[in-house]
Amino acid sequence: MQLKTVYESVKEELLEVENRLKLLVESERTSFPELRQMLANLLPGGKVIRPALTLLSGKLFNHNLSPLLPMAIAAELLHIATLVHDDAVDKSSVRRHRPTIYKLWGEEKAVLLGDFLFAKAGELAATTGSIRVVTLFAQTLQTISRGELRQSFDAFKLKQSREDYLYRVSCKTASLFSLATQSGAILSQASEPQIKALDEYAHNLGIAFQIVDDILDFVGTAEEMGKPVGSDLTQGTLTLPPMLLLERYPEDNPVKRLFQDRSRKEEIKQAIELVRSSSILQECYDVASDYSLKACRSLDLLPDSSSRRALVALADFVIQRRR
Ligand code: IPE
Ligand code: IPE
Ligand code: MG
Ligand code: MG
Repeated sequence: MQLKTVYESVKEELLEVENRLKLLVESERTSFPELRQMLANLLPGGKVIRPALTLLSGKLFNHNLSPLLPMAIAAELLHIATLVHDDAVDKSSVRRHRPTIYKLWGEEKAVLLGDFLFAKAGELAATTGSIRVVTLFAQTLQTISRGELRQSFDAFKLKQSREDYLYRVSCKTASLFSLATQSGAILSQASEPQIKALDEYAHNLGIAFQIVDDILDFVGTAEEMGKPVGSDLTQGTLTLPPMLLLERYPEDNPVKRLFQDRSRKEEIKQAIELVRSSSILQECYDVASDYSLKACRSLDLLPDSSSRRALVALADFVIQRRR
């Protein structure tokens, strides 16, 4: 299914999110044109999954758009801030089909702009007036940082378990899916069991989403993804595909050779070839599909509605996506 179809029931609200993001960018036009230019470079081309989660989750209940819209924007800005920092950490030059902040302005500006965006997101979260949402926001930012730090410390380590991988993925990606989704429910006065169900949905959806991102880093194309592929191994990040490759061929293995001597860049190509041509690819998709199905099961106790159906469709989209 196309993302546009998934978003049908929140398309007007998402348009409003986009408009307000543009206003935010343009508000810097006269006072700080360089900042405006950096912000304008960042916004287009994203899938806006996190704001869609906030809106869909909120619209499952008796919702009020005045806190929901700023929270949806906060979720997207928090996400974008992590991307700006992630690209600086990875020295990555393309994102959303455009040159990254890192590439255009360098590491220093990327760090500072990321901080600016985190703070902007926090301010918007605070306008909801919900201490619970603001607390969750701050906890999520800590969790994402924890995940990114763990990944950095684990780089080029051969001995890692699937639990280590799932821990990182839960922290760096699923936590933000949870914040986006839970905050929508909290701001719409959902009951505690309903908030918990949506948290479980988002957590499992986030894990499925990141596993597929990690698969597409092996088998996707830069044209479709709008960012470089093959970069996880370059960074020494052991994701699910190479982890399964190491389990299957523990001795003669390109990942092993690369991690023991990072100058052996030619091993990356070989690892990608091996993953593509073996059943490992399908095995990874099976793991991701299990999380996606688990996500959908959590929605069972919520009333049927166009928003619930959209959340189910989104769980399907994250598995079959190419971008
Ligand atoms: C990229 O997220 C970062 C990951 C968690 C893998 P998205 O794929 O949602 O990025 P955009 O927002 O569409 O650019
Ligand atoms: C998501 O993981 C990282 C963040 C939480 C920012 P990736 O490192 O896989 O994201 P991409 O592939 O660069 O988008
Ligand atoms: Mg990255
Ligand atoms: Mg990735």
